[in-house]
Amino acid sequence: MKTFNISAEFEIFDSFEELPDNIGELMKKTFEARDKAYAPYSRFQVGAALLLDNGEIITGSNQENASYPSGLCAERTAVFYAGAKFPEARIECIAVSATSLKRPVTSPVPPCGACRQALVEYEVKQKTDMEVYFMGESGAIVKAKSVKDLLPLIFDNSYL
Ligand code: THU
Repeated sequence: MKTFNISAEFEIFDSFEELPDNIGELMKKTFEARDKAYAPYSRFQVGAALLLDNGEIITGSNQENASYPSGLCAERTAVFYAGAKFPEARIECIAVSATSLKRPVTSPVPPCGACRQALVEYEVKQKTDMEVYFMGESGAIVKAKSVKDLLPLIFDNSYL
């Protein structure tokens, strides 16, 4: 029997002000986006913003449904829109923030597992990594250099 280890390095920014200017601007877009969330059931509002290599910024928010599984997370709303509207563009980074109408969200909120799988598809498609920045409504921001760091042992098209 053999074993192997997986490790990844993440950067932590203690506050929003510490972010590089362009990422701070991108994160601000997530604040605006999450105000447009349709989240009457969870009252948990998530905003995502993508920076594309053509300079476009695409935003998305979670869209819920009375039939709960029919709703969609903010990250996938954004990434599918980007894929549909700018199929040739590469996604350089994604920023995510979340707030709750029920309690303060002060810890960084990472993309859910299903969103990680959807996001990594675009890293495979574009053959380059995308940076992932995530936060709550305040407090620290975590940066991952690649979706693969959040989703090791990915399932991708090489298995098909
Ligand atoms: N949500 C997102 O939008 N992104 C995530 O990565 C985690 C969860 C949404 C889905 C649902 O509308 C609400 O947050 C509560 O799970």
